Amino acid sequence: MASDTRDIYVTALKNTHALEMQALQIMERQVERLQRYPEMEEALRRHIEETHGQRARLEEALQAVGDSPSTIKEGILGFVGNMMALGHTPAQDEILKNTYANHAFENFEIAAYESLLTICEVAGQRGSVTGFQQSLQEEEAMARKVRDLVGPTTRRYVALTSAGEKADR
Ligand SMILES: [Fe+2]
Repeated sequence: MASDTRDIYVTALKNTHALEMQALQIMERQVERLQRYPEMEEALRRHIEETHGQRARLEEALQAVGDSPSTIKEGILGFVGNMMALGHTPAQDEILKNTYANHAFENFEIAAYESLLTICEVAGQRGSVTGFQQSLQEEEAMARKVRDLVGPTTRRYVALTSAGEKADR
């Protein structure tokens, strides 16, 4: 493999790994705080488990090329990261902001895996393709799940708020 192609592949692995580490942080923080939205909590718990597997796949791929995840936190998230930060600011509608942000985040990850799979192909790295395809399918399933929960979550938020009950998270 030409060294520039290898560099592109390794950079993509490291960026995607940083993304998954960020995903774990964000989801774990939300799960700890959620009290009134059990469906969202369950979806997040399941996806946290999947994300540990996704992280392991990326670490194996880095090992296979004699590299390791960077310890420097990379600023890959940009505006998505800023949006996620919204959810950490106490607000009456915290659950809604987090739901929108989760939807954006999962779709960001879908694009990252589509791109990584393309780079695998171009760089001739066939070994990790099956694993990354599985990761992509998991992100797509979570994106659909979050999308499906937008309506029910909003209805529950409105009902709890109208009843004068705790509705924020
Ligand atoms: Fe994800």
